[in-house]
Amino acid sequence: MIDKYQRKIEYVRISLTDRCNLRCRYCMPEGGIEKLSHGDILTFDEIVRVVQALASLGVRKVRLTGGEPLVRRGIVDLVREIRAVPGIEQVVLTTNGVLLDELAEPLVAAGLSGVNISLDTLRPEVFAEITRRPLYQRVETGIEKLRALGMENIKFNCVPIEGVNEAEIPALVGMARNQAVKVRFIELMPIGCAYDVGYKGVAMDKVRQLIERAYGTMKPAGIKEGAVNGPAVYYRLPGFKGEVGFIDAMEHKFCASCNRVRLTAEGFLKLCLNAKTGLDIRQLLRSGIRDDNLRLAIYQAIYHKPEEHFFLDKHNEARDSRAMVQVGG
Ligand code: GTP
Ligand code: 5AD
Ligand code: SF4
Repeated sequence: MIDKYQRKIEYVRISLTDRCNLRCRYCMPEGGIEKLSHGDILTFDEIVRVVQALASLGVRKVRLTGGEPLVRRGIVDLVREIRAVPGIEQVVLTTNGVLLDELAEPLVAAGLSGVNISLDTLRPEVFAEITRRPLYQRVETGIEKLRALGMENIKFNCVPIEGVNEAEIPALVGMARNQAVKVRFIELMPIGCAYDVGYKGVAMDKVRQLIERAYGTMKPAGIKEGAVNGPAVYYRLPGFKGEVGFIDAMEHKFCASCNRVRLTAEGFLKLCLNAKTGLDIRQLLRSGIRDDNLRLAIYQAIYHKPEEHFFLDKHNEARDSRAMVQVGG
């Protein structure tokens, strides 16, 4: 479907839970955040119904996010069910990787076609410092498992932070030298605890400079015809099998070409990452709405997707400054 600003919406990010087994300092306080109760979050049957409605409106790609989506029990069955919805071509996942060791195999068997792994460092002690959990080794084992299964669509997400993992930028990019993976750098966004903990993001221009100094000039990678992509912009480096990507939401707004909507764990259809506007789908589902009316309600909501985000407009009342973990990234 096409929204008011002529954007084609074909991608939904679905948050399965607001819980997480890590406590990344830029995202959550040590004590976690106020958790949703089980009755508040959508059941798998409800999620599948929403996916059916969205698919009938033209959504082709579903990304499962969190919190940490792998902590939600039964995710393997959910992947299989979503994969079977007519019109859905891809079911992919954004995870911190901690539970991939045990879940990679059944997930791939269920039809998962891509995994984005949040990995800010390759050093166990820095991992423990950023995430407050000493679980680097488990992530590493999980990544190896995915590779051994022949998963081709692997992307790494790294948030560069001054004085924390900045020095590792070339080493992280190095993962794309011999493997066809994508290593992406995300600009620290002013949501969650990002600034409260004193973290300062490294400017993306500086990240680019550090990479070129280590590996040579980056050349824009071609855009695949017909692919449904997120906001990252990709580059190739001489002699590299993989690519480097940048997600600089703040400096370069990509709102004009936005192709997605979000479904929060509690069933709110969010039209933009940090706008409060959207549709309370849970309430519609639980009041017994018929499929055709659900489809119509979703259509009408998406048509009014906001033109752009308001990260920098602190006084805008429509602004939602909850953490990634609460809105599904
Ligand atoms: P693919 O291109 O399909 O791999 O998806 P993606 O890059 O959107 O997925 P991922 O979950 O790995 O997201 C990476 C980062 O991009 C996260 O920090 C997201 O919050 C951010 N992001 C994703 N979509 C949007 C968006 O619409 N607006 C903004 N500002 N950030 C986004
Ligand atoms: N700014 C930028 N990225 C963030 N993430 C979580 N919180 C923030 C923030 N404040 C990232 C995670 C993960 C992705 C889904 O979102 O590191 O890679
Ligand atoms: Fe968990 Fe992701 Fe937040 Fe880290 S950034 S605490 S992995 S939800």
